[in-house]
Amino acid sequence: MIFLVLLSIFLHQASSSPVNQPLSFSFSSFSQLSCSSGSLICTGAVTPYNGYLSLTSEPFQSNSSYYSATLPLNEVGRVLYKQPVIAWPAMISTTFTIRISRYPNTTDSADGMTFVFAPDSNPSPPNSYGSSLGIFSRSQGGNVSQLAVELDTYKNGFDMDGNHIGIDTTSVLSSFAASLNSTGIDLKSGRPIKVQIDYDGWTKMLYVSVAYHGYPLQRFIEKPIIMSETVPSSVYVGFTAATGAISESHHLLDWTFTTFPLPSYSLKKQNLVKH
Ligand SMILES: *[C@@H]1O[C@H](CO)[C@@H](O)[C@H](O)[C@H]1NC(C)=O
Ligand SMILES: *[C@@H]1O[C@H](CO)[C@@H](O)[C@H](O)[C@H]1NC(C)=O
Ligand SMILES: *[C@@H]1O[C@H](CO)[C@@H](O)[C@H](O)[C@H]1NC(C)=O
Ligand SMILES: *[C@@H]1O[C@H](CO)[C@@H](O)[C@H](O)[C@H]1NC(C)=O
Repeated sequence: MIFLVLLSIFLHQASSSPVNQPLSFSFSSFSQLSCSSGSLICTGAVTPYNGYLSLTSEPFQSNSSYYSATLPLNEVGRVLYKQPVIAWPAMISTTFTIRISRYPNTTDSADGMTFVFAPDSNPSPPNSYGSSLGIFSRSQGGNVSQLAVELDTYKNGFDMDGNHIGIDTTSVLSSFAASLNSTGIDLKSGRPIKVQIDYDGWTKMLYVSVAYHGYPLQRFIEKPIIMSETVPSSVYVGFTAATGAISESHHLLDWTFTTFPLPSYSLKKQNLVKH
């Protein structure tokens, strides 16, 4: 009986629209063509290099030994996968490697990056530089159906420190944040850092794991999130980064993403009622 119910759910699933199919993609590296080939939507200050994307511009010239006198301030970059993906009901797993570096001879560094589930494929909102991390507009206030995991390198007045991971929904005042100090990881160390974000659509839990590249991932955040109350069912996924009055570089080195749609809520409810 249970088997038949499951079978009918999966048959229903199989016959629904193509966008409801499992979707996986993987970028083992990036190249000069990453933004122009059509597989990614790159907006703002994003620049593709050989091997990585830089989400905010680099102060170095092509010969890479020269730093311009002015650092790239008040910048925002956003990279999204070209097509929407299912956020709920679904099992989601994404893994990526970032590298955030201070500039030589600077004492401070800001502002950080996010992984974002965005309601549309638009560029970051206007004036979303600095502490707004490319996800909130200063003028609009918060009324955005999005979910972001922030990798925040700067201590704003409302932040715990300049080395934390937080979860943002309708405000940059994270609904939850935790300092990475306990892990020994320094976000702006200039070392590649691997991050894995998982969402379990059955238990409605969001997990964030993190490690320096080459080390085993440590689960760092476990947080209940009701995805259906946070973002549309179909979202664009990707990254943002921002600089403010202080600057740093934000690199994305690789990215894999998988979403496996689950039977829809209404079906689950119907079956529960039947029993
Ligand atoms: C590097 O680029 C800077 C700025 O364009 C230039 O002034 C400098 O001469 C270049 N250095 C070399 C070794 O080409
Ligand atoms: C950093 O400062 C040192 C010492 O003043 C100087 O020799 C070096 O050229 C500076 N580096 C850059 C990239 O400006
Ligand atoms: C929030 O956004 C929704 C959808 O765009 C809109 O209908 C609503 O009026 C907005 N609310 C506020 C307070 O701006
Ligand atoms: C993390 O370490 C930095 C540098 O030592 C410190 O300034 C900051 O307060 C620490 N964060 C927390 C939450 O203790």
